[in-house]
Parts: sequence; structure tokens; C-alpha cells
Amino acid sequence: MRRFSDVKDFSNIECLDLGCGWGNNLRFLKDKGFSYSGVDFSKTAINHCKLNHKNVYCNSVEDMPFPNESFDVAFDRMCIQHNELSKIPKIFSEVHRVLKSSGVFFSILVEKANYNYTTSYLSRDQIEEISSIFSSINLDYIERSYEGGHHIVRANILTAIK
Ligand SMILES: C[S@@+](CC[C@H](N)C(=O)[O-])C[C@H]1O[C@@H](n2cnc3c(N)ncnc32)[C@H](O)[C@@H]1O
Repeated sequence: MRRFSDVKDFSNIECLDLGCGWGNNLRFLKDKGFSYSGVDFSKTAINHCKLNHKNVYCNSVEDMPFPNESFDVAFDRMCIQHNELSKIPKIFSEVHRVLKSSGVFFSILVEKANYNYTTSYLSRDQIEEISSIFSSINLDYIERSYEGGHHIVRANILTAIK
């Protein structure tokens, strides 16, 4: 197992940022020298990302413009959770398709919160079921409270290996 700080050259690691938004994670990947692509279905977000990044695509993560087995790593920082529950298994199978064998998928999926926009709150059992197409998974979680404990956000952190 390699430690992040021990790796000197990231350029042969192909990363995919799902729902890259305004490019917060793309900036990190570029600064570290990874090979990377970003996908988001917001034209405005992608046009903004194009100012600083080459491989960014205006597409839904349900149907991505990449050949099978393109990426070593795919990560989802709060994109998939903002899709209807019925669409999430298709998104997971699309991520599985574009990952190389033994590729890694990281996903943050909210279980409890009270967001005002489309959000699927997934239990650990639901995540385990949807992730069963991967060869192994690990689930961790983070929980935060706001406003003196009146507002609680709990999110599960999935690491899945193809
Ligand atoms: C909460 S933002 C997170 C942005 C970014 N991942 C970050 O960490 O800063 C969610 C993003 O996912 C995108 N998104 C949600 N569902 C999507 C889908 N099915 N296909 C592509 N993009 C999607 C939204 O347009 C939005 O930019």
C-alpha cells in the first residue's frame, strides 16, 4: 500500500470527478499533477471549468462519454445524492463501467439532513445493496450538528473497489 505523501508522480493516475460543479476538486487534481476528467450536467458550471481545465464534459453521470475501464479513481463529492433514488443504481453501474479493474470509487452520500433541493437520503443498507456490483466496499460516516443540535447532517462515506 502506497501513502499519498510518498507518491511523487500522479500523472499516470486517471481520475474522474462526478458532478464537478465549479471545479473545486479539479483544481486540487490539477495542482497535484493527476490526469483527470470532470462531468457535470450544468452548462454554466462546465463553461466555468473550461476556463481552467481541458477534459470537462457537460453530461449526466447516468450516461458518461467515456469508454469502459477508463479510470483508476472516481469520486463523488455530493453529486449522486442530489438525484432521484430510482436513478442511483444506474449511476453506480455507469461508474462501475468506466472504472478499470480494481479501480476505486469514493462517494459521500447523505443519510440525514434537511436540504431544500432534490436529495435522496440513503441508509447504509440501501448503499450496501446498490454497491453490490463492486467486489468490496467499506462504509464510514461523518455526523455534524448545527444550530445547537437542531440541525444534524449525517453522511456515509463509501469506498468501493471494482
Ligand atoms: C453539491 S454540488 C457539488 C459540486 C462538487 N462536487 C464539489 O464538491 O464542489 C453537486 C453538483 O452535482 C451536479 N449534478 C447533480 N446530479 C448530476 C447528474 N445526474 N449528472 C451530472 N451532474 C450532476 C450539479 O450540477 C452540481 O454541480
